[in-house]
Amino acid sequence: MTERIVLAYSGGLDTSVAIRWLIEEHDAEVIAVSVDVGQSSDSTGEEWEDIRQRAFAAGAKEAIVVDARDEMANEYCVPAIAANAAYEGKYPLVSALSRPVIVKHLVEQARVFDANAVAHGCTGKGNDQVRFEVGTRALAPHLKVYAPARLWGMTREDSVDYAAKWNIPIGQSKAKIYSIDENLWGRAIECGAIEDPWATAPSEPNTLTKVRTNESVELVISFDQGVPVALDGVTKTVADIIDDLNLRAGSTGFGRLDMVENRRVGIKSREVYECPGALALIAAHADLEDLCLERDLHHEKARLEPRWAELVYDGMWFSPLKQAIDAFMTETQRFVTGDVRMRFDPPGALHIEGRRSPYALYDHGLATYDAADTFRHEDSAGFVRLWGLGVATWSEKQLSKGSGR
Ligand code: ARG
Repeated sequence: MTERIVLAYSGGLDTSVAIRWLIEEHDAEVIAVSVDVGQSSDSTGEEWEDIRQRAFAAGAKEAIVVDARDEMANEYCVPAIAANAAYEGKYPLVSALSRPVIVKHLVEQARVFDANAVAHGCTGKGNDQVRFEVGTRALAPHLKVYAPARLWGMTREDSVDYAAKWNIPIGQSKAKIYSIDENLWGRAIECGAIEDPWATAPSEPNTLTKVRTNESVELVISFDQGVPVALDGVTKTVADIIDDLNLRAGSTGFGRLDMVENRRVGIKSREVYECPGALALIAAHADLEDLCLERDLHHEKARLEPRWAELVYDGMWFSPLKQAIDAFMTETQRFVTGDVRMRFDPPGALHIEGRRSPYALYDHGLATYDAADTFRHEDSAGFVRLWGLGVATWSEKQLSKGSGR
């Protein structure tokens, strides 16, 4: 029986070569599935139809494009905002968030086409192979997963030759210096001069955070139960808010990260990210939480946030712990409703100027030092005495006996 394989197809050199390679090595029928997770077409200058045609040229039996931009925004970016997602305290999970979306559609198309396997173009050194494979095993354990780029041992030149031999039109991917992964949530840039952690990151691959103005940008983001719903008072979809912020905050140079991170596979890697929309939304959201979350809830949430980011980074989007933490996160968002006023000063500085919420726990009467004060000062003396009772006893019975080290 010939195999039928659904391949996650980006239109780039590797996945184009993978189509032909799977046909040759596995005698397979290949269905190329391209998932639009909001990557801008201007990074490649190509339309999805060009990409489909390349898949056919490489030998695909069918080539389809799935529009998942809003799904990415509503079902993946929104939970990331709720969790203030920041892997190792910084990275808002750009690539890590898109892989489960792609996996979901691969598995769905595998059902539609009655395929026995899925395939991806990842190498053996990265996190994305982990996300594809662990995700597929969670959703469809019966499917085989092929990772041709992990097996074929081709260099970039070999791949270019292979494409030429099979008349696969590879467009501009030939002279590629950087490996760039892109979606609505931002861009991840690797390779080239970035591989020297001491070297200044080259500005040439940057697009979203290229400084395009010397004027400050001021804006107001509105949230409803933790979900961004409007920009400057204009109601928009989450995807449109992210795109607008990528443009407006990005124009001031805000949103670039240059970091060394720990990959799941044990490699330290220097990465450059451009994610103005993601970082602006998370900063605004976290600030609104400062205003709206009760103290214990806020502190416990802060403990779970890094765990959530780590699970997603590690390819555990579809896992019981991640689901359970999501339920917690959703519960915490009930009163995270309100507006955050922000100013972006070129190059790259963000200031949160103000925040307000109908559910603010900030109480002016309690906080003020002026005449409007409603705080019961007389309650403090007894409270503070009891608060300190334990250490006072310790001091008298132990510290004063010379046991203090
Ligand atoms: N290191 C990041 C991550 O694991 C980005 C990976 C980007 N992938 C790429 N093909 N450039 O999430």
